[in-house]
Amino acid sequence: MCKSTTDAQQPILKMRGICKAYPGVQALGGVDLDLSSGEILGLVGENGAGKSTLMKVLSGATYPDAGQIFLHQRPCELESPRRARDSGIAIIHQEMSLIPTLRVWENMFLASRGWVRRAEEVEETRKLVGLLGVDIDPHKLCRDLSVAEQQVVEIAAALQIDAQVLILDEPTTALSAREAERLQKLLGKLKQDGMAIIYISHRLEEILEWTDRVQVLRDGCTEDMFHTSQIERADLIRSMVGEDLVGEFPPRSRSKEQVLLSVSGLGRGNDVRSVCFDVKAGEIVGITGLVGSGRSELLRLLCGADVATEGTMMIDGTALRPRSPREALEQGVCMLPEDRKADGLFLERSVRENFAVPNLHRFSRFGLIREAAESAAFRRYASQMKLASDRVESRAVTLSGGNQQKLLFARWLCRECQVILLDEPTRGIDVAARYEIYQLVRMLTDEGKAVVMVSSDLSEVMGMANRILVMRHGTIAAEFENQSSLSQRQIMDVAFGNESS
Ligand SMILES: Nc1ncnc2c1ncn2[C@@H]1O[C@H](COP(=O)(O)OP(=O)(O)OP(=O)(O)O)[C@@H](O)[C@H]1O
Ligand SMILES: [Mg+2]
Repeated sequence: MCKSTTDAQQPILKMRGICKAYPGVQALGGVDLDLSSGEILGLVGENGAGKSTLMKVLSGATYPDAGQIFLHQRPCELESPRRARDSGIAIIHQEMSLIPTLRVWENMFLASRGWVRRAEEVEETRKLVGLLGVDIDPHKLCRDLSVAEQQVVEIAAALQIDAQVLILDEPTTALSAREAERLQKLLGKLKQDGMAIIYISHRLEEILEWTDRVQVLRDGCTEDMFHTSQIERADLIRSMVGEDLVGEFPPRSRSKEQVLLSVSGLGRGNDVRSVCFDVKAGEIVGITGLVGSGRSELLRLLCGADVATEGTMMIDGTALRPRSPREALEQGVCMLPEDRKADGLFLERSVRENFAVPNLHRFSRFGLIREAAESAAFRRYASQMKLASDRVESRAVTLSGGNQQKLLFARWLCRECQVILLDEPTRGIDVAARYEIYQLVRMLTDEGKAVVMVSSDLSEVMGMANRILVMRHGTIAAEFENQSSLSQRQIMDVAFGNESS
């Protein structure tokens, strides 16, 4: 454990006594933070611990109630994002901040733009995005990008700012092992060049492998400060959660013989091609693959968000041909979307309303909404998810990123569906709450439901799924029974295909 940064070096950034309250919540209660050039500081804590709020203060997006910030030993007022940027602080926010109707290259240079030098900016965009090993057409509209691709663009946009301090607030939640590895290399290089980096992630392996020091926040205060080389995963969890965790994954349930979902020759253009698989009652089928391999696109066909141009789907023996998510739902297929902001939540409505909207039929009688029933059901699910019950009437926008995800989950749990599609179900969710979600998914399969789970987190897929499908170039490149002999390497080799380096 340590209390200061490298002794010989003066930190280039100091935050002292930072406080921030929101109505009913003390988000930060006097936090100190030191950061030196050429170091990567990990910032961890449970959902709602205050990580993003602290970084919003540092990037000028939020003004603190008390406390001071020193850059290069001088006090500085970061009263706006522009001011922070001009002071050399670049941030990749947890929630996507790209403008959906603009093209990739236009989004990249939004902040820094003087006059438009289109050809150069397009080229620069291609180069920066390429650094992360992803091929994205700079002319594409951002609304047509997958969440993972958007994350890549966000990272690239922050890299083109001439920054001394770089903040990354959960940048890898949708990235697969390969893109994350590239990012790690890139950060290593920036660090060597003297950049000071703050890295927030719920993927504790990344924190342990990538960072030099780790600061743990709990309930808006600093709980611990560690030199990364001196700690293990269990130390981090204990510090974040306050106790040891029993296990990472609940035991797998046994699937039944009845096939609930049967997909045959499913396709749409080049995104998804000739996909065939079955899911039995009580079974979890995990789907994984690199960014752009077609995982999310496949789920969109299954849930009716896009319409398949080829192939057939059957649900419990009946043909399924959804032309919208609503139609899919009517036939018993529901989907937990990947992008909670765009697809999932009504951010300005209360937590309770968000929970109730898709479940209205269950809580209304003669057209009247029975608030008591609604609240009672909500409270039950919320407590299962460990969502704070005193936040029921707060607007969804005021929840931390991970708690928004939990809310979405609670909402879908309440539905009566046979087939449940999960797209990155634990994206942005802390290690303790993750376990709760895994238990809930197990509960669903124990009830005989069929689950299809897309995840870029391989350990999650291997911990939860009965079978694993690996996608590459829009099609299923391999299928594995999830036995103890199966290794992450085997899966990654298939995912990389010939591109393996
Ligand atoms: N705009 C807001 N209005 C009201 N409360 C807020 C607002 N933003 C954050 N909060 C609250 O402040 C606390 C800290 O939230 P913050 O987003 O900083 O957490 P976090 O550590 O980033 O969590 P996560 O891991 O889920 O992203 C939470 O209780 C959250 O609900
Ligand atoms: Mg956050």
